[in-house]
Amino acid sequence: MSRRRLQALALALPAPLAVAALTGKGAGIVLAQSSASTPEADGTPTLAPTPTCADADDLETTLEETEGPYYTPDSLERTSLLEEGMGGTVLRLSGYVYASSCQPVANALIDFWQADDAGVYDNEGYRLRGHQFTDDEGRFELETIVPGLYPGRTRHIHVKVQAPNQPVLTTQLYFPDTPENDEDGIFDPSLVIDIAETDDESQQGYFTFVVA
Ligand SMILES: [Fe+2]
Repeated sequence: MSRRRLQALALALPAPLAVAALTGKGAGIVLAQSSASTPEADGTPTLAPTPTCADADDLETTLEETEGPYYTPDSLERTSLLEEGMGGTVLRLSGYVYASSCQPVANALIDFWQADDAGVYDNEGYRLRGHQFTDDEGRFELETIVPGLYPGRTRHIHVKVQAPNQPVLTTQLYFPDTPENDEDGIFDPSLVIDIAETDDESQQGYFTFVVA
């Protein structure tokens, strides 16, 4: 893993983890401590720490991966994909879209789609599909479930990211400590969500996308 890749990863980490990730690596990124960088006991979504860049180096762009066979265009605009009766572990995923020049990207489109808890995609409708736009600080927040496994793939969430008037970056996000990661031909550690522990049954995740 390159230094730049590590730095890009560190953008997505809660501050204490980010500091650990950057220790001894010639950190070029300074993470400003967020007022809410740890999960709340009641499961309220929390903000990822605010990254700022203090290095002239460009960030390494997020690795692009295949779209796969189950993308449906024109998803609903929404930040929560949860629906009544939906099984699975709740996942609150937050982070940023950054340009490789190390500037946050406001109004970037992020389109998520994924399998349900049983590893099944809704290819008729828009269950577990939705898009949103980053705020003025390049931040996004998604409420969803941890996707189930299906044959031939490890656990993953599909995503398309597009800065205004820029090309679409298509990729997939993965989960740590998943044995199937080792058997998946396109799994990449740079695309693993940083999962923080919560006091309830849900998971809190962080990921920062870097676009060209
Ligand atoms: Fe998939």
